[in-house]
Amino acid sequence: MNFVNHLFSPSGFMPHGYCYLWRPDLISLHVVSDSLIALAYFSIPVTLAYFIRKRKDVPFNWMFALFGVFILACGATHLMEVWTLWHATYWLSGYVKLVTALASVPTAILLVGLMPHALALPSPEAMRMEIAERKRAQDALLTAKNELELRVRERTAQLVRTNEDLVAVVAQRERADQELRLSEERFRLLVERVEDYAILMLDPSGHVTSWNVGAERIKGYRADEIIGKHYSCFYTEEDVNLHKPEMALQAASVLGRFADEGWRVRKDGSRFWANAVITAMRDSEDQLIGFSKITHDLTERKRAAEALETTRAEMAHMARVMTMGEIAASIAHEVNQPLTAVVANANACSRLLAGNSPDLDDVREAVADIAEAGTRAGAIISRIRALVKKDMPEKTKLDINDVVQEVLPLTSGELAKHRVSVQTELFPSLPQVLGDRVQLQQVILNLMMNAIEAMTSIMDRPRVLLLRTQVQESDRLSVAVQDSGAGLEPGNTARIFDTFFTTKSNGMGMGLSISRSIIETHGGRLWAEPNDGPGATFQFILPAYPRSTA
Ligand SMILES: Nc1ncnc2c1ncn2[C@@H]1O[C@H](COP(=O)(O)OP(=O)(O)O)[C@@H](O)[C@H]1O
Ligand SMILES: [Mg+2]
Repeated sequence: MNFVNHLFSPSGFMPHGYCYLWRPDLISLHVVSDSLIALAYFSIPVTLAYFIRKRKDVPFNWMFALFGVFILACGATHLMEVWTLWHATYWLSGYVKLVTALASVPTAILLVGLMPHALALPSPEAMRMEIAERKRAQDALLTAKNELELRVRERTAQLVRTNEDLVAVVAQRERADQELRLSEERFRLLVERVEDYAILMLDPSGHVTSWNVGAERIKGYRADEIIGKHYSCFYTEEDVNLHKPEMALQAASVLGRFADEGWRVRKDGSRFWANAVITAMRDSEDQLIGFSKITHDLTERKRAAEALETTRAEMAHMARVMTMGEIAASIAHEVNQPLTAVVANANACSRLLAGNSPDLDDVREAVADIAEAGTRAGAIISRIRALVKKDMPEKTKLDINDVVQEVLPLTSGELAKHRVSVQTELFPSLPQVLGDRVQLQQVILNLMMNAIEAMTSIMDRPRVLLLRTQVQESDRLSVAVQDSGAGLEPGNTARIFDTFFTTKSNGMGMGLSISRSIIETHGGRLWAEPNDGPGATFQFILPAYPRSTA
C-alpha cells in the first residue's frame, strides 16, 4: 500500500509543465504528439495480436508477442509524459520506463539471436518461385490425377462391359446346359421307350449297365434282374463256348463298331434270331468307357425269308420236275442206250460161254462193257433222281466244269433229236465256287434247253450250241451258253427274265426267272446278249471260292 502511495504521490516534485513554463503551445505540442504516439503504440499490439491469432503458422510468432509487450510499454511511457505535465508522479513514470526497458532489452537481445533464423526464411521471390513450382507440381499432379481418374473410369467401364459379356456368356452357357440336359433327358426317355429294339449299355468288361423297354420285351429280363449281369447270358451255349461274346466286345473296341447276326437266348431259354450292333464308347481322352448295344429281333423276318426261300426252292423244284418231264422221253432214250449195250454184251457173253473153248479175254471185255454201260446208266438215273428229289438247297464247294459235264448226258437226247451239235470250251483248272450242285445244274439245263428250242426253227445254217467256262478278273468265273438260233427279239430283251414271260405256245416262262434268282442267291449275275452273228448268248458270273483277297 505504501508502495502504491509512493508511486502516486508527488513527493514534493513539480509537474513537468513548469519546465515548459506552462506555455500552452508547447504543452499542446507535447500532449498531442505524445498522445498520438501512445495511441499508435497501443494500436500496434492489438494488430499484432490479431495477426498472431490469424497466422498461427508464422514462424517466431513469440517474437511478435514480445514486440507487442515492448511497444505497449513504449506507449505507456508516452502516456506518462502527458500525465507528468500536470502530475509530478516521476516514480511512477520511472517504473513505467523500467518496465519498458525490461521488455525492450530481452526483445533486442532475442532479436539478435533470431536474426540467422529470420535470414534463413525464404525470400518472397523464392517463396513465389517455390509456390509457382509447387503449383506446377500440383497442376501436374492434378492432370495425373484426372488422367488416372479417366483411366479408372475407362477401366471400370471396360470391366463393366466385360462383366456384362461374362454374364451373357454364363447365361448362354446355362441355357445351352439346360438345353443339353433337356435333350439328353428327351433322348434318354426316347431310348427307354423304344420297344422294337433292345438298347442297352455295357461296361468295358461286358456287364449290363442300362436296359430299355425293348430289351425287356425282346429278351424277357426286367431291368433289376439283368443290370450288373454279364451280357454273355444272351448268347447260346455253343456261342459262349466259342468265346463269341468276348470276341464281339474285342472287335467293337478295336474297330469302333461290330455288327453280328445270329441266334440269341431269351430269359425263358427260347431262341430268337438277332441282329446286334455293338458300338464302343470312349471319353474325350479316348479311354474305353463301355459299349452300347442295339439288338433287333429278326426272328419273324428270318422266318419270312426262310419261307420265301422254301417257296423259291419249291418253285425251282417244280420247274425242274417239269423240265425233266419235258425231256423224259429223250432221257429214257439216253438211258436205253447203255441198257441196249448191256443186253447186247450179255448176249455176246452167253454166246461166247456156250462155245467149247470160250475166249475168256473176249468174255472179260464184254463184262467190262456191261459194267461200264450199267455205271453210265446208273449215273444218269442218279442225276435225274437228284434233280427230281425235293431237297432244300445246300451249298458245297464245286467245280463248275463238273456241273456242266453232269448236265450234258441229260441233254444229249434232246440235242440229237433236234440235230444240234454241241461244243464245249471248258477252262482247265477253274477256281471252285460255293454253290448248290442241283440248282446250278438246273440253270445250265434251262439255258441249254432254251438254246435248243431257239434253234429248232433254223434250217439254213448249222445248229450249234457252245458251252464255255472262263475265269474272269481272277476272283470270278463265267459260264456262257451260246446258240445259233433265232436270237433275241429287241422288244423282249428286257422282259425275258420276268416270271411267266414266254414267247412259246407251250412255254411256262419260268426257266429264266428261276435261273436268275438261283444265280443271284449265289452272289452272281445272269444276263443275255445277242451274238455278233446269228443267235444269242446267255451268260452268268459267279464269285470264286474262297474269294481272293486282291
Ligand atoms: N436262247 C434263246 N434265244 C432266244 N430267245 C430266248 C432264248 N432263251 C430264252 N429266250 C426267250 O425268253 C423267253 C423266256 O424263257 P424261259 O424263261 O426259259 O421261258 P420258256 O422257255 O418257258 O419260254 C422265251 O420264251 C424266249 O422268248
Ligand atoms: Mg425255258
